[in-house]
Parts: sequence; C-alpha cells; structure tokens
Amino acid sequence: MLELKDIYYKPATSRRDILNGLYLSASLGTPIVISGSSGSGKTSLVEVISGLSGQSKGEICWNGEAINQRQRRWLSGVVFQFPERYFLGLTVAQELRLGQRRLTTERQSIALNKVGLSDLDLSKSPERLSGGQQRRLALAVQLLRKPRVLLLDEPTAGLDWSVREEVIDLLTSISKEQILIIVTHEPELFRNIRSLCYKLINGKIQRITKESTERETT
Ligand SMILES: Nc1ncnc2c1ncn2[C@@H]1O[C@H](COP(=O)(O)OP(=O)(O)O)[C@@H](O)[C@H]1O
Ligand SMILES: [Mg+2]
Repeated sequence: MLELKDIYYKPATSRRDILNGLYLSASLGTPIVISGSSGSGKTSLVEVISGLSGQSKGEICWNGEAINQRQRRWLSGVVFQFPERYFLGLTVAQELRLGQRRLTTERQSIALNKVGLSDLDLSKSPERLSGGQQRRLALAVQLLRKPRVLLLDEPTAGLDWSVREEVIDLLTSISKEQILIIVTHEPELFRNIRSLCYKLINGKIQRITKESTERETT
C-alpha cells in the first residue's frame, strides 16, 4: 500500500505551496483517478509520488515504511503527458529494450498488443510516431518494466483512446498487479472503470463520487 501523509510541496521557483497538507492512500485492485483543473498541481503530485521531486514536508510510505525519493524512483513508473521528451531509444525496438536486455520477442509482442500497437514498425524512430502512439509506446515500456506503482499523467489528453473498452480492460487488469494512479482533467472519460475518484483542490485531495465528476463537466 502506498500512503501520502500530510504532504507539502513547494518548488524552489514557486512562491506558494502547490501541495498543501495532502493525504492519499492507494492499494492494489482499485485504480485511483485524481481530477483537478489545469494548474491545480496534478503533474506536481505525480512528480512527488514518483520521486522526481521531493516534498518539503510529510511522509510517503510503502507498506507502512517511509520511503525516500530514490526508493520512490525505483518503485514507480510514469507515463507523462508528453512522453516524447523522455524517449532515449533511436527506434521503437530500442526503446522497448531499454533496461530489458533479455526481452523476448514474445513479451515484446504481448506488451505492444496490450497497448494496441501490434502493427507498429519497430525500426521507426519514437519521435516520428503520432502523439497517441508515443503515449501507447511509453505505456508499453512501463508494462515491460512493471513498476509497483504506475502513474499516468493525462493519459487521454487529445487522444482517441479514452473511452474505448480495451483501454478500460487494460487499466483494470493493470490495477490488479500494480497500484495505478491516473491524474486527469477529464475524469468523466474514466467513469466506466471501477475506481476511487478524488479531486485535487487547493493542494489537498478530496474524495468525490463518480456522479459529481459527470455533473461537473456537463
Ligand atoms: N517547478 C516549478 N516552479 C514553479 N512553479 C511550478 C513548478 N511546477 C509547477 N509549478 C506551478 O504549480 C502549479 C501546478 O502545476 P502542475 O502540477 O503542472 O498542475 P496541473 O498538472 O494540474 O496542470 C502551476 O501553477 C504551476 O505554474
Ligand atoms: Mg499536468
């Protein structure tokens, strides 16, 4: 179980606390969907959980023990909104093999299949893929890496794969083996997933019902 306890976060270049006494717990089996308006701190929260940023106050615990930033980096994987900034491989095949030297063709195909990229040309440069394909590739990389905590930052932004059933099935199946946290400004697109819904507001997390995510956007 992952727990955030009274987390404050203020980037060096910011005057105010972006996260402001935030509590959250996440466990296997139920995806967490955190919504919030633009600028509410969703990406900052992803960065803090995944250890890319350090909180200024508060504890993050894994199975009851406080873990530091470095431990969080090992534990978590992030699919960013703009994954093209983070690709390292010259080809799709290389990207999938990063940190996976013994990746079998079979495991590679299973991962690509899961994210709907089975027809992709593996010799293509990741930079030349469409935005949607890049995000799917970034997800395939994380599925192969299998971090204990998988964070998706705006997985639906500008994409066509939001409400498709196979994506919902995929997210549901991921959440059985990995803690899954989705941050999004489009929570209504996830209403068919059995999930816990929260809202990030004034640097704190509030539990909300699914109905209120729908109402808000109509
Ligand atoms: N490194 C930083 N330095 C200064 N301000 C930041 C930094 N990172 C984020 N912010 C500010 O924090 C707020 C939340 O940003 P962000 O986490 O990207 O929100 P969201 O992902 O919900 O749109 C914004 O007002 C943003 O300008
Ligand atoms: Mg963001």
